[in-house]
Amino acid sequence: MNNKSFYVTTPIYYPSDKLHIGHTYCTVATDALARYKRLCGYDVMFLTGTDEHGQKIEEKAKEAGKTPQQFVDDIVTGNGGILDLWKLMNISNDRFIRTTDDYHVESIQRIFRKMYDKGDIYKGAYKGMYCTPCESFWTESQLVDGKCPDCGRDVHYAEEEAYFFRLSKYAKPVQELLEGGEFLQPASRVNEMINNFIKPGLEDLCVSRTSFSWGIPVDFDPGHVVYVWVDALSNYITALGYLNDRYDDMDRFWPAHHIVGKEIVRFHSIIWPAMLMSLELPLPKSVYGHGWLVIDGGKMSKSKGNVVDPYVLADMFGVDALRFFLLRTFPFGSDGNFSNELLISTINTDLANDLGNLVSRTTAMVEKYFGGTLIAEREADDVDNELVELLKATAGKYEAQMDKFQLHLALEDVFRLIQRANKYIDETAPWVLAKDEAKKPRLATVMYNLLEALRVALTLLKPFIPASCDEALEQIGGTDFATWENAFLYGVLPETVSVHKGGTLFPRIDMNKALEALEAAKKKTEPKTEEVSKFPPVLPQISFDEFSKVDLRVCRILACEPMKKSDKLLKFTLDDGSGTPRQILSGIHQFYEPQQLVGKKVVAVLNLAPRKMMGQDSNGMLLSASFEENGKEELHLLILDDAVPAGFQIS
Ligand code: MSP
Repeated sequence: MNNKSFYVTTPIYYPSDKLHIGHTYCTVATDALARYKRLCGYDVMFLTGTDEHGQKIEEKAKEAGKTPQQFVDDIVTGNGGILDLWKLMNISNDRFIRTTDDYHVESIQRIFRKMYDKGDIYKGAYKGMYCTPCESFWTESQLVDGKCPDCGRDVHYAEEEAYFFRLSKYAKPVQELLEGGEFLQPASRVNEMINNFIKPGLEDLCVSRTSFSWGIPVDFDPGHVVYVWVDALSNYITALGYLNDRYDDMDRFWPAHHIVGKEIVRFHSIIWPAMLMSLELPLPKSVYGHGWLVIDGGKMSKSKGNVVDPYVLADMFGVDALRFFLLRTFPFGSDGNFSNELLISTINTDLANDLGNLVSRTTAMVEKYFGGTLIAEREADDVDNELVELLKATAGKYEAQMDKFQLHLALEDVFRLIQRANKYIDETAPWVLAKDEAKKPRLATVMYNLLEALRVALTLLKPFIPASCDEALEQIGGTDFATWENAFLYGVLPETVSVHKGGTLFPRIDMNKALEALEAAKKKTEPKTEEVSKFPPVLPQISFDEFSKVDLRVCRILACEPMKKSDKLLKFTLDDGSGTPRQILSGIHQFYEPQQLVGKKVVAVLNLAPRKMMGQDSNGMLLSASFEENGKEELHLLILDDAVPAGFQIS
């Protein structure tokens, strides 16, 4: 064991919506790395969290009729929220930071001031093209076909007084850092950064906003809030206690390895190192830009209705099966095409057939042939050598891949061992050996070798599928021997090891049935999505006093006639209870004929400012429910029970 430290982070997620399988992918991968380093004996700090400020969250909260804090609280800590998702996915983070946490807010204000005092932040005016969803300003040359280069959406010209960070000052050292080799991985991302961002010239970065208020205030200039990337990126140090009293772990853990999605590599490999240079702090050890999970080659999006819910998949196939699939199938640095078929076939092939079968066949044979406990006698054979050699070599190969963040290749090495062990069963035919009492020592050797191969494989799989490995290790009598050091050795399990055959670790999945069940689960949630997207969002809150200013009355329709020269307008004469008939015009002729309405009780707004339409006064407005779909409008007047007298006020 050594006590070297390893600090690894995920991006902090926007709590603007429920997280999906793409976010889960990133967190599960980081979790596997953290668990791997713990297994190797490192002092690990694994940080994840949420990026809670910004205009988008402010707008979403408004749409939902909540304060921004209530809104993010619901998504982060609410039922089925982000914390619940990480718990379900067995994420072993040591810390969880929310950018609304007091200590983070305090640190950010100090960080901002520190860079300002140093002259690295100055006040200016921002003029440029702004993408609201991405909260990013872009130069003309960065736009792609006139659209935001990150999300492809429209941008608009915007101008505001703002503070700037002297990013340009750090262009040279940042380029040197990128060219140095180790910092940004995979290496293919280095050229992308240098060619697309550094070579065209690094402009100073706008780091404050006055156009919205949901952010950390610049304490020396009210009206400005800290722009979200300075707030967000700094989480990696504030969570260790940088410029706050909450923690004191900078010396112990900083610098970090940052795992991030490819679209935010720019922020982590250019802006973040420049900020750290300004703060005179050590630079991150590495930034790994992983690929995206896509569907049919395209982005997952709510509007396409193809967002994959990790809760549904974990519920249907199990947490470990889902974790495994994500890391086994897609090369970590590239995009991966997600499909349910691929998920199911990976579970069936690797987990049910190869791993699950090896565990159940081996434990079943040890129980059947030895009553569960091996005898100490042994008899080796040349056929054992290849398996034993592979068993001893696997951890080293795995380590080399894990240290390069090549999680899928590390898993490939483990599965090579598992497949070799399955082949070894066919080669040694234990059921034939079992028929001859004299072959018992040979049979014991075969069983022992299988158990040893499993011990190594399960130890190395622990970071990926921890709960299943614990269970399987228990079954093969390997719980106390699943250490990193032992993973390199042969002959670790006791000679007379005892096994306990348990339940099926990974049941085979019927592809058709599972696909049908997934389709049904999707349908179940569809109407909800429809409801949300079909109708306009709830308007911003008003006070009761404001509402009380609207004079709503029950009125009886005394007369109704079409307006000449108008297809739409009907002229109503109403009894509003005042004794004087009231005239209101309403454009509803396409929905009602006058004779249908005479005598009916309706609701009108009486104190709406009068309007002239086609030369006639309209003194109020009739209330109706209307809805437009595919350019076709539907409308229903609010018609009351005849028992309600005209003139009654509605409140
Ligand atoms: N809040 C910023 C990060 C600030 S870090 C200082 C942010 N948040 S995010 O919620 O939009 O994205 C968080 C991470 O999820 C990103 O790394 C992003 O790449 C990742 N993913 C989002 N969708 C994804 C897929 N479909 N596939 C893989 N990862 C994806 O950006």
